[in-house]
Amino acid sequence: QKDGYDWFMRKEIYEQPDAVANTLLGRHSKEGKLVLDELRMSEDDLRKIDKIIIVACGTAFYAGLVAKYAIEHWTRLPCEVELAHEFRYRDPIVGPTTLVVCISQSGETADSLMAVRHAREQKARVLAICNTNGSTIPRESDAVIYTHAGPEIGVASTKGFMTQLVACYVLGLYLAQVRGTKFDDEIAATVAELEAMPAAIQSVLDGIEPVIKLAEEFADEPSVLFLGRHVGYPVALEGALKLKELAYIHAEGFAAGELKHGPIALIDDQLPVFVVVPPRGRDQLHDKVVSNIQEIRARGARTIVLAEADDQAVEPYADLMIKLPKVSTLLQPMLAVVPLQVFACELATRKGHDVDQPRNLAKSVTVE
Ligand code: M6R
Repeated sequence: QKDGYDWFMRKEIYEQPDAVANTLLGRHSKEGKLVLDELRMSEDDLRKIDKIIIVACGTAFYAGLVAKYAIEHWTRLPCEVELAHEFRYRDPIVGPTTLVVCISQSGETADSLMAVRHAREQKARVLAICNTNGSTIPRESDAVIYTHAGPEIGVASTKGFMTQLVACYVLGLYLAQVRGTKFDDEIAATVAELEAMPAAIQSVLDGIEPVIKLAEEFADEPSVLFLGRHVGYPVALEGALKLKELAYIHAEGFAAGELKHGPIALIDDQLPVFVVVPPRGRDQLHDKVVSNIQEIRARGARTIVLAEADDQAVEPYADLMIKLPKVSTLLQPMLAVVPLQVFACELATRKGHDVDQPRNLAKSVTVE
């Protein structure tokens, strides 16, 4: 039930700290070693995997895009991410040493199910990441990691996405552990960071008021852009999808580096642009995104920047800065997505839309 909330979606957004804790529960030891018996594969077989292909649709696909960055970085295994409906109707290179991971909150999405069947016909090992116990996709897969987010009723996926990220991180770390591509202490440090995420997400939610005000201010905007780089790119795509499906506003997500290859022509006076800024680190990612923000601001855009709380380099270029707790780059999507979910939910309810049942959409798409 709605537990005092007016919309399931709002409730599900606020349930995310608990949902993350539940997904992690029992999946690592006190020392930070991953335990993933559900994989039902021997360590020997896991070492034989030479490629991972993630198949999914919609928001689950964006979780897969984030996972690619983490899995490749931690395991050094090639990881492709493909829309399930595209994968199914071409001739993908899949075989017994391919691990196909199907991400689906409902476990009933027809496009994803067809991709699972196709992968199994090619003798690939299929792992489902799913939130719905006993649904079709896990039943037809070789193994399943359940996300334990609890029922997601709102059509827009929120805690589903969040816990899919957690499951993908756990999978990537487990593979790195088995294959020896990361030292135990590096893995344990990331597990500790994951354990701290419920509190970090809660602190984003506690400081969400400026985002709610922003949604009121932007309720009549015809178009909004979202930019990100690296794992911030799928977050930008997700922010745009949420706004489209709930507020029926034209929204697009771009990789920030792609701006100069075309989309910058869209920037004009007062256009709202959300930008996900990576944490400051040893690479140049952060500075590159800051210069992207300068470029769009110089052309009159209003910039809403999601960045580390003490990121002084970006603050002067932000019309509004949404401050995020410190976290490593690969895990930042778990924090950056929250204000975007809230923004879409608040803006849509302000326009009088039903955010639990947006027009033309179904919770699970059981037709191809
Ligand atoms: O149940 P699934 O995760 O397989 O669903 C996939 C998409 O249909 C789903 O994520 C959809 O994009 C949501 N409405 C997004 O909020």
